[in-house]
Amino acid sequence: MKPKVLITHKIFSEVLEYLKKHVEYEIGKSNGDISKNELIEKIKNKDGLLSLLVVTIDKEVLNAAASLKIIANCAVGYNNIDVTFAREKGIMVTNTPGILTETTAELTWALIFAVARRIPQAHIFTRDDHYKGWALDLFLGQELNGKRLGIVGMGRIGKAVAHKARAFSMDIVYHDPHGLSPEEEAKLQATQLSLEELLQTSDIISLHTTLTSKTFHLISKDNIQLMKKTAILINVSRGPVVDEESLADALKEGAIWGAGLDVYEDEPSIHPNLFSLDNIVLLPHIGSATRETRLKMAFMAANNLIQGLRGEKPNNLIE
Ligand code: DGY
Repeated sequence: MKPKVLITHKIFSEVLEYLKKHVEYEIGKSNGDISKNELIEKIKNKDGLLSLLVVTIDKEVLNAAASLKIIANCAVGYNNIDVTFAREKGIMVTNTPGILTETTAELTWALIFAVARRIPQAHIFTRDDHYKGWALDLFLGQELNGKRLGIVGMGRIGKAVAHKARAFSMDIVYHDPHGLSPEEEAKLQATQLSLEELLQTSDIISLHTTLTSKTFHLISKDNIQLMKKTAILINVSRGPVVDEESLADALKEGAIWGAGLDVYEDEPSIHPNLFSLDNIVLLPHIGSATRETRLKMAFMAANNLIQGLRGEKPNNLIE
């Protein structure tokens, strides 16, 4: 008999075809989010779970999962899962590292340019037929060439963002508790600074840290006040790293110049004060959203799941 699996949301047909050979699956939701009650009900008799990052898998869910052996999260981040409790219950948890690095770094750059050159605002203006004549001061943005890029969290994605910054002759500084080796610093031409100094001196601040109790509201009201008036803040990591309300206030008051967000404190809700601002670009958590990458992520999650259900150690086990 094939193991029983719950796939929380509809995923690519190619991956479903592949999974069908190995498991008997049920899809939780074709559209929208699966509710906690639905999840608890459906997980009761399952051996495996393939989840998206929008699904909270807490103690209550895990306690209902009497025969669950593995949770294969289709994301590199896994802050949606109580991994410590899952481990206590002998449930393996896996993620999808490595394959979304470049895609997410590319989106970071798209967002940096969108904010610095006010591209969405200029597009809407042009599309709405307001362009009636060239003007010297039409949609003035900020140049990136030679500016300082401050990267908070120098993991895989942070490094890929830094690597691309060299094409724009930027001065690269970073803050990461683990630091980089001297060889890596030399390769990326990046210098480690304290968080305070990075925030005070960077023109673009890009967040690539994981969400932990230490990074929750790392970009707090006080830390935003350290930034230059001309600074641009970019967040493609996890929403709760930024105090959204304080950011909205700072943007409204002109305490910083602009921001680009792909993630939010309470997704998919967005702080209402952010909607009325003209100096922000908002995206719907699409950092890794290219077809190539999302397909690779789904196959990687499927393979982790199959390995775990076979009693093997999955390639991407979170240890
Ligand atoms: C992740 O994988 O953690 C991203 O946020 C979505 O791709």
